[in-house]
Amino acid sequence: MSNEELQRILRYYQDIGITDVYRKAGVVEGGSPTPAPRPVAEPVQVAAQPPKPTAPPPPPPPVIEQPTLIAMPPELPLPPLTPTNDTLDLIRADIGDCKRCRLHTGRKNIVFGVGNPETKLVFVGEGPGEDEDIQGIPFVGRAGQLLTAMIENTAQKEGIPLKRADVYICNVVKCRPPNNRTPEPDEMEMCGQFLARQLEVIRPKAICSLGGTATKALLGKKEGVTKLRGNWFKWRDFPVMVTYHPSYLLRSVAPTAKREAWEDLKKVLHFVYD
Ligand code: URA
Repeated sequence: MSNEELQRILRYYQDIGITDVYRKAGVVEGGSPTPAPRPVAEPVQVAAQPPKPTAPPPPPPPVIEQPTLIAMPPELPLPPLTPTNDTLDLIRADIGDCKRCRLHTGRKNIVFGVGNPETKLVFVGEGPGEDEDIQGIPFVGRAGQLLTAMIENTAQKEGIPLKRADVYICNVVKCRPPNNRTPEPDEMEMCGQFLARQLEVIRPKAICSLGGTATKALLGKKEGVTKLRGNWFKWRDFPVMVTYHPSYLLRSVAPTAKREAWEDLKKVLHFVYD
């Protein structure tokens, strides 16, 4: 093969990207085979070529994190806050042997409520005292006797035939707080759902809120009873009259407090029964 022919072939190899060619061991052009000097083929360098631009390596495939599937427990059905076709019996049954808050530890009885479920007037107090805890009936101790006298005497004086048994009486919390302390906010909130259901079932024409705890639970007001008493407010759609708690009247030395409480009660009775 002529030199020119060889050059042409090499150029062709370069064009198609082959830069190394190998001479067969022991083969001499135009001659007979000779013993191979080395056992491996030896590269013959052709003209140095700039490296062919090669495509950048493809980016590694993105690592897709597999979500860890955590088995969730099925959602526990919660009782509706205001069940349809609610009744006082159903509410009492839902309270059951309640251990929802710490007040259950010291109670003897749950004090649910007492009176006429068809009444137009509901009285709401704070929570059972010792006598109420023993008997399981609200407002049966000294404060309760005063409340009963106030209701019946005021009604009689005002010409309204009304006995304690004709109204409904209940409390914000249904278990006696230790040493008659004021119920804590979480206790009021927990038990307040049952009070709300009681009021929604009875649907009275008016609610009489006795003292600061009941007023805070019903109206969320932070002002004291002295400021709020004698005025009408609303719990949902129900008119609420705020007045003093009978325990306060028993303790109070304020000469006006008892008279004011009687006036508040007169207002309520006339609003409901006239
Ligand atoms: N005080 C209350 O608030 N409720 C009762 O039942 C008795 C005393």
